[in-house]
Amino acid sequence: MIKIKDMKLFPMTADINSEGHLTIGDCDTIELVNKYGTPLYVIDEKAFKYKSNEYINSLKKRYQDFLVLYAAKAFACTSVFKIADQIGLGLDVVSGGELYFALKTNVNKKNIYFHGNNKSLEEIDLAISSDIGKIICDNFYELELVQNIAEKRNKNIDILIRLTPGIECHTHEYIKTGHLDSKFGFDLEDYDDVLNFIKTKGKNLLLKGIHAHIGSQIFELKPFADTIDILLEQFKYTKEKHKIELTEINIGGGIGISYTKEDDPITIDKWAEITTSTIKEKCKTLNLKLPKLICEPGRSLIGPSGITLYKAGSTKQVPNGRKFIAVDGGMADNPRPITYQAKYTAVLANKMNSSENMELVTIAGRYCETGDLLIKDILLPEIKAGDIIAVLNTGAYNYSMSSNYNMVPRPACVLVNEGTSEIIIERETYSDLIKSHKTPKRFM
Ligand SMILES: Cc1ncc(COP(=O)(O)O)c(C=O)c1O
Repeated sequence: MIKIKDMKLFPMTADINSEGHLTIGDCDTIELVNKYGTPLYVIDEKAFKYKSNEYINSLKKRYQDFLVLYAAKAFACTSVFKIADQIGLGLDVVSGGELYFALKTNVNKKNIYFHGNNKSLEEIDLAISSDIGKIICDNFYELELVQNIAEKRNKNIDILIRLTPGIECHTHEYIKTGHLDSKFGFDLEDYDDVLNFIKTKGKNLLLKGIHAHIGSQIFELKPFADTIDILLEQFKYTKEKHKIELTEINIGGGIGISYTKEDDPITIDKWAEITTSTIKEKCKTLNLKLPKLICEPGRSLIGPSGITLYKAGSTKQVPNGRKFIAVDGGMADNPRPITYQAKYTAVLANKMNSSENMELVTIAGRYCETGDLLIKDILLPEIKAGDIIAVLNTGAYNYSMSSNYNMVPRPACVLVNEGTSEIIIERETYSDLIKSHKTPKRFM
């Protein structure tokens, strides 16, 4: 029986046990802390699978040919790659490192799509020699690199072209502009030159389609429809002017998620409805064959599946001001608040039923930056040193953006499911941190 009144911000298996502890995947979070320490990232396997299947099923009932890629940048982890592959998701990777992880995990190579605005020669060579699915080409420099390496290796390479369609999204609002001030992708006005390059100098490049990613944490449907409109116009242009029939439309990342009660994202089903109906209508109007639909959600798959458990330590009451509660993690394991003022919600995992002495507090990190505040002004029951604070919706862009600032080892990550917990990323140690450092002999 679910005892959490409003599940909106919790992983889908969250509950409260008889001791008043938060449970995830039928695991008591306080037992997890006792076993694995803090800070601790916890990933709910069921929640990740559920969200993944929601994308797959809501597309399946509306559209024949599609592939959902998991955007590895959200949380690059071999176990998650493995689960994604088993469910039938492909992978969107953006670096040689993510690609290496994907290859080591033995995922279906043909479903790996390689992104990035400055892929190195070595990275492209790894992609080409490994026979991955597709390379998404971002600029002319890269087109030349891919062509040269493909020619040397005597291979023909499937590519997509990343376009910037002039749509800019910021969660609640979006604008259409002639040009986007973005480092990513080709501007629409360069597209003709791209096609000319491929026809004249790209004999090993097989152009399959177009990609666009207009932003992350998007709460509206219309920008997705507008993007599709613009991309399909280019399909038509490519066919008529250059006699190339494109077969894949890649519409980038997925929908936004709720980090706070105020957040009101669209549903995956509504997103699927608008994207597929727009493609069908536009293709009919433009007399195009229906292309394969590719999307690459990250945040909405893994974000709500993860929480981070911290131990409360010191407190500071500013006279007539804020009360700071410091935890044993912060900006190095979750850089989103300090980087772009991202908001989060937290609960007291060891006192889920308590509503005593509610206080307005600020959850501060342990790092040497004044701005290292995980949550500003949140109402929580009185927190004592040793209490366990669970920050919710930390599955995406937390571990993957983490650092060793202040030489603090990265936390462990544990996968929970039906009462079992397994370490999927070990906690770093001081010796992990120091092992890449070399002291020249003359200092010894
Ligand atoms: C090219 C590309 N695809 C996919 C994604 C994943 O987006 P999201 O996590 O919002 O679904 C991103 C994230 O920024 C991206 O840059």
